[in-house]
Amino acid sequence: MFELTGKTAIVTGASRGIGKGIALKLADLGANIAFLHFRDGEKADETVKELEAKGVKVKAYDCNVADFAASEQVVNDIIEEFGEVHILVNNAGIVRDKLMLAMEETDFDAVIAVNLKGTFNMTKHLCQHFKRKRRGRIINIASIVGINGNAGQANYAAAKAGIIAMTKSVAKELGSRNVTANAIAPGFIKTDMTDAMPEKAREAALASIPLKRAGETEDIANTVAFLASDEASYITGEVIKVDGGMAI
Ligand code: NAI
Repeated sequence: MFELTGKTAIVTGASRGIGKGIALKLADLGANIAFLHFRDGEKADETVKELEAKGVKVKAYDCNVADFAASEQVVNDIIEEFGEVHILVNNAGIVRDKLMLAMEETDFDAVIAVNLKGTFNMTKHLCQHFKRKRRGRIINIASIVGINGNAGQANYAAAKAGIIAMTKSVAKELGSRNVTANAIAPGFIKTDMTDAMPEKAREAALASIPLKRAGETEDIANTVAFLASDEASYITGEVIKVDGGMAI
């Protein structure tokens, strides 16, 4: 449907889960893929093989997105290796769920560092490149809890709300250079992250979804593919919920 042949996409957190689904989808559409993961070498190797089988150029980078200097280095390495980068998908994320009363400073800091600062770091290091090339697509993976909040996720919800506000700000700053920035707010998607939830919390989440099923990584990947495509060139600063109606 959409065509990305000759484009290069950076996807953070693509060794597994939603990021992997996004990388596979963009590769199906012809995009070369540079992806980041954090100390997940075995799964990253598998993902590289699956992506290479699609006939595109692929390279995995073990890099902590929360590290400002390391993420700058990796962006420079990718530009040197791939040439122009057209699409940045900020997907890497972690949770440290606890009620506010029990939440430690380290739980808060870790979640903000990876989810929010990681998105800042990658966007910051690529925006000059996008500006110079006068085109670029930034797609940030937020969450419906960044819109509605969620008990037990004050750190994560704050990070995701921050990502949404950052997306809108960047969209305003870079629009005149033909760079769009949009966010996707997934609901409950079946991945290692949600498999690790307590059974009761998982059941409650599923019960609250009007479409009565968990989302698949492909549901998010399809929306990323659209936002990365020429067909979405007039959409910026938008937040698209992909949640089976969970946050209606
Ligand atoms: P996951 O835990 O299955 O995968 C996370 C990926 O991020 C892995 O590739 C991991 O290596 C990478 N990563 C973790 N910390 C990193 C760091 N410091 N630097 C670089 N890479 C790092 O998670 P999942 O479920 O695939 O989530 C992906 C994104 O979607 C996250 O931002 C998450 O918050 C968001 N999301 C997920 C939902 C779900 O239901 N699974 C719902 C809403 C949002």
